Amino acid sequence: MIPIKNEREICLMRRACRITAAARALAGEMVRPGVTTKQIDKAVHDYIVSQGATPSFLNYNGYPASACISVNNTVIHGIPDGRVLQEGDIVSIDVGAYIGGFHGDCAATFACGEISPEAQRLIDVTRQSFYEGIAHARKGNRVSDISHAVQSYVEANGFSVVRAFIGHGVGANLHEEPEVPNFGKPGRGPRLIPGMTIAVEPMVNAGTYDVRVLRDNWTTVTADGKLSAHYENTVLITDGEPEILTVTEGL
Ligand code: MF3
Ligand code: CO
Repeated sequence: MIPIKNEREICLMRRACRITAAARALAGEMVRPGVTTKQIDKAVHDYIVSQGATPSFLNYNGYPASACISVNNTVIHGIPDGRVLQEGDIVSIDVGAYIGGFHGDCAATFACGEISPEAQRLIDVTRQSFYEGIAHARKGNRVSDISHAVQSYVEANGFSVVRAFIGHGVGANLHEEPEVPNFGKPGRGPRLIPGMTIAVEPMVNAGTYDVRVLRDNWTTVTADGKLSAHYENTVLITDGEPEILTVTEGL
């Protein structure tokens, strides 16, 4: 069953998502050489709590932090630690906040100082693939119309989309129906209905799409050691244009 949010629930989603997006923005502002991923995680945690919300990821299936911070060849679920960010790193930061019974979920990849042109292109293509995808996030379309648009754009630009992890419905639960893959044929999966809220989150690799999970059972890295980027927003299906809920105002 795909949860359909009513007007009241959508208002609550907006509040959770605003806090989530602000946490992503403040984390991104902190990305520079010399900062540790744990320092960024602490700032994310303290900001979310200061807003009266709870970090969605903390203790989720035993996850030990508030943010996932995934550097260079780490695709997702990087656990913040004493790692010191270096000039040239690309840093994917994924955050979630829970308040009023609803979660927001969003991510982006940030440049640490000067990065290579190819790394910047990976970041740009990943972000744009999200927008290519949600151009199809309209009532009456099917979920895989989004998936297909993401994949087509990414592959036309010479990169690959991760298969082993996908986007998802988000609301009262961090992960709920429907599944939102970043690949596949169009015209498949559930029809989109106003009031659905989904996390569209392309994970894009510079090389092969294969990934490997490290012994900590979280850290997910590219199989070939090449770079990876991530971009995610929580999106509301409406009667018209999709509404990106994880937006930041005045930041
Ligand atoms: N944003 C991630 C997702 O969409 C959530 C991280 S998983 C957690 O699946 F365990 F770290 F919370
Ligand atoms: Co997500």
